[in-house]
Amino acid sequence: MDTEHMVRTFVEYFEDRGHRRITGSTLLPPPGDPVLFTTSGMHPLTPYLEGRPHPLGRRLVNVQRCLRTTDLEEVGDATHLTVFEMLGTWSLGDYEGPLSLDWGYGLLTDGLGIDPGLLYATVHGGDDRTGPDTASLRLWQDRGVPVELTVEENWWSNGPVGPCGPDSEIFLWSGDTPPRSTPTQDDRWVEVWNHVMMRHRRLEDGSLVPLPQRNVDTGLGVERLASLLQGKSSVFDCDVFAPWRRLVPALWPSLDEPSLRLVYDHLRSAVVVTGDGVRPANTGRGYVLRRLVRRVLTVLWRDDPSRSLGDLPDELVSHTLDRFRQQGEPGDVRRLLLQEEHRFRQLLERGRKVLSRPRFQGPLDDEDFRYLHDTHGLPRDLVMSLRQE
Ligand code: ALA
Repeated sequence: MDTEHMVRTFVEYFEDRGHRRITGSTLLPPPGDPVLFTTSGMHPLTPYLEGRPHPLGRRLVNVQRCLRTTDLEEVGDATHLTVFEMLGTWSLGDYEGPLSLDWGYGLLTDGLGIDPGLLYATVHGGDDRTGPDTASLRLWQDRGVPVELTVEENWWSNGPVGPCGPDSEIFLWSGDTPPRSTPTQDDRWVEVWNHVMMRHRRLEDGSLVPLPQRNVDTGLGVERLASLLQGKSSVFDCDVFAPWRRLVPALWPSLDEPSLRLVYDHLRSAVVVTGDGVRPANTGRGYVLRRLVRRVLTVLWRDDPSRSLGDLPDELVSHTLDRFRQQGEPGDVRRLLLQEEHRFRQLLERGRKVLSRPRFQGPLDDEDFRYLHDTHGLPRDLVMSLRQE
């Protein structure tokens, strides 16, 4: 089943159950919002989860692009991407968690054809904030799905303050043996769908207050489920990455699999972030973009410093912009990446020169790092990698 088909099946399934499709937002949260990027489908909906009536009603479904920098270090494993799409459904004070889970089960098994024997669920086991989530537990027991109870892993919040609640996560077995063990014990259980019983709001002082309504917020990672449905062992092997796999190894030969994955993930993410209007900078969103580009270049230049992002095929840029329903000209995106590449080359040259001074031959202290950053524009991570050359 290709990714488009999977997304359509999901959206139509929920439309048939009274949900209205809303358009996903960009990666940029509205001004004044404390987070840099949209990290979850619920994020643009925060005011409605907090009680403001939504113009399209109380049942919503959408596809939302998300960016998670917390996963940056995990990129390259089988299941994490920096920019990804999330299918989401919401009950804004309408139906409750068990119905959401039941529909989720129905969609995965009847709608998408997953063998029910490959599913496992986790449920919040209760702590001093809230009792055990017996309603979710009962639903899974009725459906014959095995359940593991956890505490921290089954609590979801978008940040230190704001809407949050206990959740129930659905895992799919990805191993090539019959399923065994449990989600917390065996990472061949891959989390595919999180259903959050979003009924609380956390305040600055850490305390919880009830939200004015009992919501359900669910999120399903598109590339992750698509790769499992397509029988692939990693997100980088699903159809979404097919053009990258076809074109990049020919363009930049000799990259090993971890390097290829980093290049696919970071370049694709850089294109999407650029498509949403972010430009490289030394702080905030622009710095995330800058780091993505620099990490790609560091990997590309390890074998061959003449490699250039100016060679990036238009097809990869336009495929990515189309997939994320973004406007933009591949030539403009490439030019922007190329400008950033030139800046990075100059910075590296300067950095090597400065670091060859006797003062920087021994161990560096905080003052050295501050000086290198403030006077020469050399961030700490760059200094570290130059010293390892
Ligand atoms: N907001 C929840 C998540 O991102 C559904 O996992």
